[in-house]
Amino acid sequence: KSFRAWQGRLPDTKRELIEFSSSLELDRRFFLQDSCLNSVYSEELSLIGLISKEELKVIKSGIKDLVKAYLNNDVEFSSLDEDIHMAIERLLSERIGEVAFKMHAGKSRNDQVITDFKMFLRIEILNILTKLNNLFDSLLEISQKYEDVIMPAYTHTQQAQPIIFSHWVFAHLYGLFECVKKLIEVYESCKMLPLGSAAIAGSAFNLDRFRLAKKLGFEAPTFNSMETISSRDFALDFLYVLTMISIKLSSFSQDLITFSTSEYGFVSLPDEFCTGSSIMPQKKNPDFLELIRGRSSIVIGNLISLLALMKGLSIGYHRDLQEDKTVVFSSLDIVSSILTLLPEFVLKISLNFGKIKQSLNQGLLATDIADYLAKNGVPFREAHSRVGSLVRLAEEKGVNIFELDFEDVKKVLKDIDPDVYKKFDFVSSVNARNIYGGTSNSSVKCQRDQFIEIKKDFNSF
Ligand code: ARG
Repeated sequence: KSFRAWQGRLPDTKRELIEFSSSLELDRRFFLQDSCLNSVYSEELSLIGLISKEELKVIKSGIKDLVKAYLNNDVEFSSLDEDIHMAIERLLSERIGEVAFKMHAGKSRNDQVITDFKMFLRIEILNILTKLNNLFDSLLEISQKYEDVIMPAYTHTQQAQPIIFSHWVFAHLYGLFECVKKLIEVYESCKMLPLGSAAIAGSAFNLDRFRLAKKLGFEAPTFNSMETISSRDFALDFLYVLTMISIKLSSFSQDLITFSTSEYGFVSLPDEFCTGSSIMPQKKNPDFLELIRGRSSIVIGNLISLLALMKGLSIGYHRDLQEDKTVVFSSLDIVSSILTLLPEFVLKISLNFGKIKQSLNQGLLATDIADYLAKNGVPFREAHSRVGSLVRLAEEKGVNIFELDFEDVKKVLKDIDPDVYKKFDFVSSVNARNIYGGTSNSSVKCQRDQFIEIKKDFNSF
């Protein structure tokens, strides 16, 4: 149950080779796009007089029926269908006869497949954006819920400075938002129509590519037929953005994995998103987060695979290009499945205030003391060095810098006022960073308000 477009020239191709080279398992995802393309393309063929109005009617209603059957799970693919394009032509010919074979005049699967691919990606990009939007809602919600919980921020995995929890949330949120901007760019680049480029040199039929573009929801035709059928820039760009999303989610996961260890204990993960151990009854493992981290390596690999695939190809179509779908679908499925689960997971994490408070080391205020001295005329390097020796002294005595005798403090910090020294605390430290983009309560509130504005645009996209 198959036919091969080229069986006139090569009647004896081995069945095993046909199965080996089939891309149907992948590109059957393009069923709707390819059907739509064929329908619109047939209209074009009728407009240029290549098929009659009657034939067009038969083709269009045949495609409509076929799509209905497909949506009812009622079409039978064959392992001998070379790809979705051949499958649709075969299935259609079984319904409407020979006239189905008129549809392919002036086009090639080389331009057809990337036209389908771009139409498909536009829908998938909108799906990913919707899912990201749900994640943003959850992040906004927990940022509000735990608004001003003070926690340590880390550099080199060492405690660095106090921040508020919502600042950490917005760090991840704004990071992901960068990917939204890039996704929208990829969406835009998928608006250039490949159809009409045919096999490589452009169609020899008098098609109006601008009209085709308009009817198929594209903005304009691509500029050069050779470049068009050779290029997979749109797929690479999409893979790159998926990779960025994936490594950002991996870093978010890594933070939560660390924060949920018994040593940190900042965060409790929702039970329903954790798994246990087959031997250790006490275990509650963050497998979901680990798999987000783990699968990001596959997503990175997929990007590298397509880059590697493209590198040695001379300009033109090569069958290697068929593998573009293998890697894009793999990354898409990974990112999409993560984004389906993550919004609910995020909503259900809870903070352990006690543990977070306990972990805050007074040493985190050292920068504030140095800043204070600098604001009072001490050159910053000198201030840094004085506070540094105070920290050293405290360490030698086994106390924190605020537990030292004030005489010792005075020796090092010279004319510091004891009242001022008493007033260094985490709340003032956080609120001192009242700069645009900083961690003070009002700066973070501004980050939130700003994001809510940005989200309005994003929602109307
Ligand atoms: N299935 C192919 C692909 O996905 C498209 C067909 C082009 N085949 C060809 N022999 N020129 O790239």
